[in-house]
Amino acid sequence: MKNLRAIIELSQDIIGLQELERSAEILSQRIRDLYGIQYVGLFSVENEQHLSLLHGSGLGKDEITNIKLLSWWEDIANEVLSTRKVVIISGDLARQRFEGGFASALGLPLFSSHGLKGIIVMLCDSDSFCPGDISDELVVMSMPLTAEIVSAELYARLEELFLSTILALASAVDAKHPYTRGHSERVTRYSMAIAQEMEMDKSAFKDLRISALLHDVGKIGISENVLDKNGKLTDDEYDMIKQHPSIGARIVGKIVNSEKIVPGILDHHERYDGKGYPNGKKGEEISLFGRIIAVADTFDAMTSTRAYRKALPFQIAVEEIVYNSGYQFDPKIVKFFVQAYEKNKDIWQRENIIYSAI
Ligand SMILES: [Fe+2]
Repeated sequence: MKNLRAIIELSQDIIGLQELERSAEILSQRIRDLYGIQYVGLFSVENEQHLSLLHGSGLGKDEITNIKLLSWWEDIANEVLSTRKVVIISGDLARQRFEGGFASALGLPLFSSHGLKGIIVMLCDSDSFCPGDISDELVVMSMPLTAEIVSAELYARLEELFLSTILALASAVDAKHPYTRGHSERVTRYSMAIAQEMEMDKSAFKDLRISALLHDVGKIGISENVLDKNGKLTDDEYDMIKQHPSIGARIVGKIVNSEKIVPGILDHHERYDGKGYPNGKKGEEISLFGRIIAVADTFDAMTSTRAYRKALPFQIAVEEIVYNSGYQFDPKIVKFFVQAYEKNKDIWQRENIIYSAI
C-alpha cells in the first residue's frame, strides 16, 4: 500500500476529532491531494437506510452545477445503499448519465461491525479517471471516518438517554410541588426562543436546554413543608429556598462537566443590579445562561396563576420584564426576549396552570 504514510497521518488527524463534518472534510481533502479527484461526496448512513451528506468537495461553482452534482452523488450513493457493493460507472454509460461532464464514477460502501455506516462517491473527469483498483485503499483510508460515524451514533444514543433522564428528573422536581407542573419545560422553551434570537451556536444551545430543564433541580433538597407552605415564609424558610440554585449546581456539577450548564443553574435567581441570590453577582458576572433563564423563569412565574393571584396577561408580563430591564434583567437579553415574543407568540402559549411564588 503505497500511501500508508498518508493513511497513518489521516487517522491521527481524524480519530477522536468528534466532528463528523470536519472529519469528512479532511478525508475528502486527502483524497483530492493523493488521487487528484475533485468531486468527492461523503455520506453517513443512519439505520442502514438514511443517507446524509457529511461533506461534498467540488460544490460551490454555481447553483445548477451544485444541484446536478448533489443528485448524481445521491443516485450513486443510493445504488451502493441498495446493493451494498462497490459501484463503478464508466464509458458510454457514464457519459450519458453525467451529461458528458464526467468520464467515470465510483461508489464505495464503508462497513463497520455494526453494518453499513458510510458511502464515498467520486465523480472523475477524463484527466482523473476513477480507478477501481484504489477502492481497497480508499476503504482503509476511510476507516477513521467510519469509526467516527459509529462513535457519533453511540454518543447520540447516550445523549438521548441522558436527556430523557434529565427530563424525568425535571418533571419529578416540578411534580414535587402541585403548582409547578410543566414549569421547567416551559422555562426551557422560552429560554431556547431567546437563544434562537441571539443566534446561539448549536452546542451552546444544547447546553442551555439542559441548564434550563434543570434550573430548579435543587428544590429536591428543600423540605416540602417549606416549598408547599401557603402562608408567608419566615426569614429562615426564605433562606432555605434561596439555597436551591446552589444545591442544584452541586447536584448537576456531579453529573455533567460543562462550563455553561452549571453556572446557568447557579445564577438563575441573580439580578442584573446585584440584588439577587445566592451570590449577589452583578451584570455580566452573571453567566449568560443565568441571565437568559432568569427572564424565562420570571415570565413563566408571572403568566402562571399563583395561590394568591391570577396569572398576568402575556402582554402585561412582557411589559413588566421590559420595565425591569437593567434592574432585574440584562437589557440585551430583554431585547432578544421581546423580539422572540413578537416573532412567534405560539411558543409562549400555555395551559393555565397554577404556579407557586418561588
Ligand atoms: Fe428557581
